[in-house]
Amino acid sequence: MLKDDVLKLLSREKDYSSGEAISRTLGVTRAAVNAAVKALREDGYEIESSTNKGYLLVSSPDILSKGSIAALLPDDKSDVIHVFESVDSTNNVLKDLSSKGAPSGTVVIADHQTGGKGRRGRSFSSPSGAGVYLSYLLRPEAGFDKISDLTSWTAVAVADAIKNAYGLDSQIKWVNDLLMNRKKICGILTEVSVEGESGFIDTCIIGIGVNVNETVSDFPAEISEIATSISIENEGKKFFRSKLAAEIIKSMDKLSSDWPDGSSYYLERYRDINITAGSKITAYSLMAENGNGRMGTALAINDDFSLKVEFADGSVADLKSGEVSVRGLYGYT
Ligand code: BTN
Repeated sequence: MLKDDVLKLLSREKDYSSGEAISRTLGVTRAAVNAAVKALREDGYEIESSTNKGYLLVSSPDILSKGSIAALLPDDKSDVIHVFESVDSTNNVLKDLSSKGAPSGTVVIADHQTGGKGRRGRSFSSPSGAGVYLSYLLRPEAGFDKISDLTSWTAVAVADAIKNAYGLDSQIKWVNDLLMNRKKICGILTEVSVEGESGFIDTCIIGIGVNVNETVSDFPAEISEIATSISIENEGKKFFRSKLAAEIIKSMDKLSSDWPDGSSYYLERYRDINITAGSKITAYSLMAENGNGRMGTALAINDDFSLKVEFADGSVADLKSGEVSVRGLYGYT
């Protein structure tokens, strides 16, 4: 959309850009540029204009727009970023694009999800104007046995993105929840399709939901003990979401090019910010219903990102999948 292209140019420019230069760069008429500027102003962008100098973007509202995200990324990324106001689930939209041949690195972002999906069939609260709901397509050339590494690498990538965007630290609860002050700010849901014969991963849809500017009342009562937002944990300060979306995309592009040889960085950082090892936990296997968990102590993160656990009966196991409750987190005492 022309509006996004104009916004991208204005966002990158610290000084005035002449309407003439914008129309030449984009190959459109001056009238079309004027119309795009008018539409951006209606969206809440503050754009100064001066007869001799042209346009200057003075301030941007916190809208997740392709223009403001693409302005922060290399130009060749613009073609594979799809931004929507509202979708059922960004994972579903990306799955559809992937089935039509979208390349690795394609991204779907939405301001609002009507059917945001969490792990194990749960829903993921996705109010508008507050979070970053983003899905990233990876075709990783790996066997299915590597999937837990990938999801753990993603937790590191998103923690790095939050640090780069806002200068803030977060922690990881095994396997890939991100926390601030011991409450969840980000969930990751990876949906994989595997080729039956070879066991190789065909596509990996990595869905990342970050609670950025939610207030306490945005969360449903049943998750109020568990979930928080970056804003709540930082005295109600509001954060520019396009910046975080762009940093997540950069981190995921880096992950994609680091895979599979760059493991040492991801493992070291994962261990560094993981708060599960050393804690009392209850482990739930994939089949177990709540209440059927086994209690134990998480000892360490293994080299393959599995969790070494010593159970109450003295047996030791390496958990590659499933979920754990960690004592002291999410209301578990
Ligand atoms: C979890 O913690 O249970 C995982 C939550 C994953 C939520 C994200 S938001 C973007 C993507 N689209 C979805 O429907 N889910 C993931």
